[in-house]
Formats: sequence, C-alpha cells, structure tokens
Amino acid sequence: MKIAVLPGDGIGPEIVAQAAKVLEALRSEGLPIEMEYAHIGGAGYDTAGDPFPVATETLVQACDAVLLGAVGGYQYDTLPRPLRPEQGLLRIRKILNLFANLRPALVYPELVSSSSLKPELVSDLDIMILRELTGDIYFGQPRGIRTLDNGERQGFDTMHYSESEIRRVAHVGFQIAMKRSFKLCSVDKANVLDTSMLWREIVTDVAREYPEVVLSHMYVDNAAMQLVRAPKQFDVILTGNIFGDILSDEASMLTGSIGMLPSASLDANNKGLYEPCHGSAPDIAGMDIANPLATILSVAMMMRYTFAQEALALRIETAVRRVLQQGLRTTDIFEAGMQQIGCEAMGDAVVKSL
Ligand code: IPM
Ligand code: MG
Repeated sequence: MKIAVLPGDGIGPEIVAQAAKVLEALRSEGLPIEMEYAHIGGAGYDTAGDPFPVATETLVQACDAVLLGAVGGYQYDTLPRPLRPEQGLLRIRKILNLFANLRPALVYPELVSSSSLKPELVSDLDIMILRELTGDIYFGQPRGIRTLDNGERQGFDTMHYSESEIRRVAHVGFQIAMKRSFKLCSVDKANVLDTSMLWREIVTDVAREYPEVVLSHMYVDNAAMQLVRAPKQFDVILTGNIFGDILSDEASMLTGSIGMLPSASLDANNKGLYEPCHGSAPDIAGMDIANPLATILSVAMMMRYTFAQEALALRIETAVRRVLQQGLRTTDIFEAGMQQIGCEAMGDAVVKSL
C-alpha cells in the first residue's frame, strides 16, 4: 500500500498528521503501508516555486493512493493564476485522471443538532454526490480575459463535456447506485445549456444498461433548492464538475459540519486521491483546533475504494463514531455538555478507539 502524503497548507499538516497516526496504527498491526511525503499547493510554491512540483508528480504517479490535506492561504492570493495553490489541486486531478469524485453527505446521529436544518429534515441523511472532476468549464479552452473592439474587457470560459467523459462517470454513478438504494438523480441545466443536453442524453442512454436503477433528472437550480427543502429525497446525485462543486458544499452543511466530510477522487482503476471536503482554513492554522475527522474518514474511503479493504474502512468509521459517542468534540462541532478537545487529542482518541 504505497501512499503519497501531501499535507499542503493551512490546517493541512495538522489534520494529515492525525490521519497518518491512524495509518501508522494499522501498519503496526502488520498492514504493508508505506508513506512518503511531498509538497503541494502553497507549500509546493514555497519550496519549489510550483504548486505541483515535479518531485510531487513523480511520487504520486508511483503510488497507489494519495492522502491530501488542503491547499491555499492568504499570502498566495495575489500570485498569477498558474502559481496559485488551487492549480496544484486541479493539476493533480487532471494528471492522475481522477474523474470520479465521491463526496458523501452523511449525518451522524450524534451531530444532528449541529445542522442548520431542522433535525427531522436531516436525521439519517445519507447522500452520495458523484461529481465529475476532470472536465467541464474548469478545464475548457479557450478561456481568458480579452479586450473587445470597443476597448471593454471581457472574461470568458468554455464549458464542454465529451460523450466519453459523460459516459464513464455515468457508469460509476450507476454502479454506486447499485450498491445503495438503486436511485440515481442526474443534475444538469439542460433547459439552458447544450453541454447539459448532451449530458442528459448520454446518462439516459447509459441507464439502459442498469434497468434496476431508477434514474431521475433535475435542473441544478431546483436541486439546490430541494437539498435544503427535503434532502432525504436524494440518494446518489450524479453531476458535472462545477455544479458538483457548488452542490457538495451545500450538502456538506446539511450534516452540521464540513469538518466531518471526506472525499475520494478515483481514476478508472480505483487509484485515488483522498482529501477532506473542507479547505485549508488559514485563520485557524497551527492552533490545534481543526477537526481531523474528515481526513481520518478519508483514510477509511482509501481503504474501501483503492485497497478494497471494506472491513478496515468500517473499523475506522466505527472508531470515529465511538469517539463522537464518548462526547469528544472539536470546536466546530462542539455543543454544551460535550467535551471540547483539540486536533491532536482527537487524532489520539480515534487511534485509541481503533
Ligand atoms: C473543491 C474546491 C476546489 C474546486 C478548489 C479549491 C479548486 O472548491 O475541491 O471543491 O473548485 O474543485
Ligand atoms: Mg469546492
């Protein structure tokens, strides 16, 4: 199990250190885990002048899985776009062909009251968002800022999806639905966008290979509304890169804290990059108050998807559940009556519970 560890920026190093403790605990039990560290994002820029340094690229190509913290920081906000931390993330996704991004939105019974929605709307909520991750307006050319004949500047980007890009992610969506409740909702903007018209046509076509799955389609604006009106109507949501970016942030907040949500980004062979859904939170970096659970739960996803170790994945997830049941909370999920602890203590508690 060769794992590249890329802590990144902000709280990245702290939360990744806790997830690494979990991996070390498993290694000490005899699991053949090898971890090697490299820089990405602002840390890549600071050490090598590039948010995705060559050494990092070489390492991740040679590994089975990547564990990533987060990228970004105020000090990089004024850099030209190619040098910004986010570019490191976009490049690693593209280079490793990680087209299938799984973002679960799962409400833990212990945290129901942290949600901004009424408990009855979110209790037992369990949604899987499958976001296409290597296409769409994120990567479309041409793009830029040009000057028009009248001297005015104009920004432009290009949204496109090829049939094969839609087809392969749709297959992943149906396969996930087959392992859950046989329900798939494809989200698009087919009433306005040609890209979405093709998306809908291809998803409908792929559906014929999965007759057991009930496919529905929803416009993205309606989906955004339904997610806060009646989120439990959803099981698996399949959508493109930019809609998935937005809807997954929205869905994450239904669960109470974005600090709880892991993610997996997979290629066609289940090589994967695992990272928390949240960002680098530079305002709390180094204060030992970040929530490491999303990163630890990302390790569980790594065991499940890349290494096909379902039992280990469940064990890590159960360890996290037990820690919550014990009343241990980082500040983002703290409530009266619970015991507030820091990032390191949370990592130690999970390892102990494991
Ligand atoms: C995410 C983030 C990234 C994205 C940014 C940091 C480039 O928002 O992973 O959702 O837009 O994909
Ligand atoms: Mg996002």
